[in-house]
Amino acid sequence: MSSSNPYQDDRGNKDRSITNPAGQGTAMPRSKSGAVTSAPGGPFLIGEAMTGGYGKGPDILHDCTIAVDRGEIAVIVGPNGAGKSTAMKAVFGMLDVRSGRVLLDGEDITQLTPQDRVIKGMGFVPQTSNIFTSMTVEENLEMGAFIRKDDFRDTMAQVYDLFPILKEKRYQAAGELSGGQRQQVAVGRALMTKPKVLMLDEPTAGVSPIVMDELFDRIIEVARTGIPILMVEQNARQALEIADKGYVLVQGRNAFTDTGKALMADPEVRRSFLGG
Ligand SMILES: Nc1ncnc2c1ncn2[C@@H]1O[C@H](COP(=O)(O)OP(=O)(O)O)[C@@H](O)[C@H]1O
Ligand SMILES: [Mg+2]
Repeated sequence: MSSSNPYQDDRGNKDRSITNPAGQGTAMPRSKSGAVTSAPGGPFLIGEAMTGGYGKGPDILHDCTIAVDRGEIAVIVGPNGAGKSTAMKAVFGMLDVRSGRVLLDGEDITQLTPQDRVIKGMGFVPQTSNIFTSMTVEENLEMGAFIRKDDFRDTMAQVYDLFPILKEKRYQAAGELSGGQRQQVAVGRALMTKPKVLMLDEPTAGVSPIVMDELFDRIIEVARTGIPILMVEQNARQALEIADKGYVLVQGRNAFTDTGKALMADPEVRRSFLGG
């Protein structure tokens, strides 16, 4: 494992004031060596040894584990149909796991509904249908705050700071926005719950390389506010570059797990999954 601090590179913008400045998301302490101080009792969120599928269908996941530590970005890559989205849904409680468990901050939440997981602090942006297209941008953000009984205007202001274009377009129907802007709405909506952990399924799907870079920068900013991020990415190379931890899934199984850097350097991973 590399000892270099993934936060002391040139990734993104260094402004820590964006999102949740005084909320649950405080940046994690770091040791002198620069390593993120590891949490007592394991990762912040882990879907551990999950086996299961849809309804009465065959198992899609086989003993599959995905996790994210405090203060980190974990990335899941792998071929189409590998079960990446299924693994995310399993962690979010949208799938019955026949064996395995999901722990959030050490608590076993395997039996909780997705709604209860949101209340526990999980934010999830699914791969598809992740916004209300006929509602305005602002209404989408308000919908995101549905579980909150407190005043969420500060959070909305923070989301608008993070994604200024959304403020400009706040009274437009979300369906009129570009692909990259819609993904900002989806991420913004998840942030409205003030999540303790954010799960993103292909946040850069279908956007241009420039917009992808921009979205990755914003995601890094969110991570810097202290919200661990577990995300699935089709753009494996770029995603592993910003990943503290990477998971390569193949046919519902963990094929490779390591730091993003180590996976990028692994000849077999490069050949099979990163195009050489
Ligand atoms: N709602 C569903 N019902 C039944 N099978 C599904 C469903 N969604 C996905 N699958 C199947 O699960 C497998 C993994 O799909 P998915 O998790 O979407 O892969 P990935 O996200 O890695 O592309 C595929 O064989 C797919 O056909
Ligand atoms: Mg998918």
